[in-house]
Amino acid sequence: MPSTSILVLLLSFATGCRLTRAESAGLLTSRSVLSRKVLPVTESTLIKPATGLTSAGYIALEDAHVAHNYHPLPVVIATGDGAWVTDVEGRRYLDCLAAYSAVNFGHGHPIPVQAAKDQLARATLVSRAFHSDQLGVFAAELTALAGKDMMLPMNTGAEAVESGIKVARKWGHDVKGIDNPSIVVAAGNFHGRTISIVSFSDDADARDGFGPYTPGFRSVPYGDVAAVEAACDDSTVAVLVEPIQGEGGVIIPPADYLPGLRDLCDRRRMLLICDEIQSGLGRTGATFAAEHVGVEPDLYLLGKALGAGVVPVSAVVGNRDVLGVLRPGQHGSTFGGNPLAAAVGLSVVRMLADGSWQRRATELGDVLGQNLRGLIGRGVTSVRQIGLWAGVDIDPALGTGRQVSQALMERGLLVKDTQGSTIRMAPPLVVTADELTWLVDQLSEVLGELR
Ligand SMILES: Cc1ncc(COP(=O)(O)O)c(C=O)c1O
Repeated sequence: MPSTSILVLLLSFATGCRLTRAESAGLLTSRSVLSRKVLPVTESTLIKPATGLTSAGYIALEDAHVAHNYHPLPVVIATGDGAWVTDVEGRRYLDCLAAYSAVNFGHGHPIPVQAAKDQLARATLVSRAFHSDQLGVFAAELTALAGKDMMLPMNTGAEAVESGIKVARKWGHDVKGIDNPSIVVAAGNFHGRTISIVSFSDDADARDGFGPYTPGFRSVPYGDVAAVEAACDDSTVAVLVEPIQGEGGVIIPPADYLPGLRDLCDRRRMLLICDEIQSGLGRTGATFAAEHVGVEPDLYLLGKALGAGVVPVSAVVGNRDVLGVLRPGQHGSTFGGNPLAAAVGLSVVRMLADGSWQRRATELGDVLGQNLRGLIGRGVTSVRQIGLWAGVDIDPALGTGRQVSQALMERGLLVKDTQGSTIRMAPPLVVTADELTWLVDQLSEVLGELR
């Protein structure tokens, strides 16, 4: 039997089984191409196996078959174009989250999409057992953008963080002769979901129940250089921070925080590691958020927008005296640095090279910030904004961040709540000033209704 027929057989069996609940709940439209009968064998049944469900039907499928590790808003997105997405019923929404900044350049931006299409037709994965004609070029241009000389390619943000931690520990062992290296981190951090990363999280949901935890981390209050210094001893090899805490609610530290950490790390010969996975690559009006205070870390951790929302691409970027500690066999990833990811990443680096996206984020961020600050005292208690990134604290007496996010969704705007009463805004950088004004007008009306 040809392999496509086997695939179709498996697919029809699998989708037939999966649909039982949705069907019995009456969630399928009458025009559904899915049934528990044999599926017609066409290209489109292979590519779009679930065509014909309503939003409620897709949500029911996820509820039944996807682990409940998220609590999404009840919107089912079918397509995206620039700053807008469209749900399966054809309703349009202004996407003011941009997949936590991964879609910085908007949905379907032609440059990374074309880069991906071109590379799809060439080679997608060769593994690092061999070289490709994409990785070296991507690495050269990414490191030039960052002013560093080497990069370590990975896929997800958490992998970049894990890799940065491994590099720092190895550097501690090899260069400083430390047997039991420790790393200082900041309270309120969010660096991802692996065991080692949640080991130094103070978010109970992220951490509780996942022990035993990885030792070797000390957490001190964010924004407090003296606390970091007090936590350091001869075992400390690195300080790991987000230049701005995104999940924490877009928390912008005092201007002397990162320079103070830079100075401390220089004095004690420790590595400063900046997790720019959410803050980096244009979002704040600079290529890297640390630039705003004139700081260059030893290691940048990058992810999200590096793949433009097209493919997962992450990286640790630093100089040879640090990244050079890794020898063959000591770290790796089958997919890390694959040619498809490298081609897309390269297109992103080139988009950022002339600074126009960064300028756009600054200019539009001013519009967003000014409008949002006008809501303080009218249902908003405070606003933190830098570039096209804002954390808006809603007066808890009016409702939760989730309630406000849901009300905005019903008006055609997608934002995400965090930390209970905060809503986070990170629209794609292609958003317009008029759209931002509309966003704030809608928020104002929602808050008015809640008052
Ligand atoms: C600052 C920061 N670091 C790391 C991560 C983890 O990235 P990923 O979800 O791609 O593993 C995130 C994700 O939100 C993040 O915001």
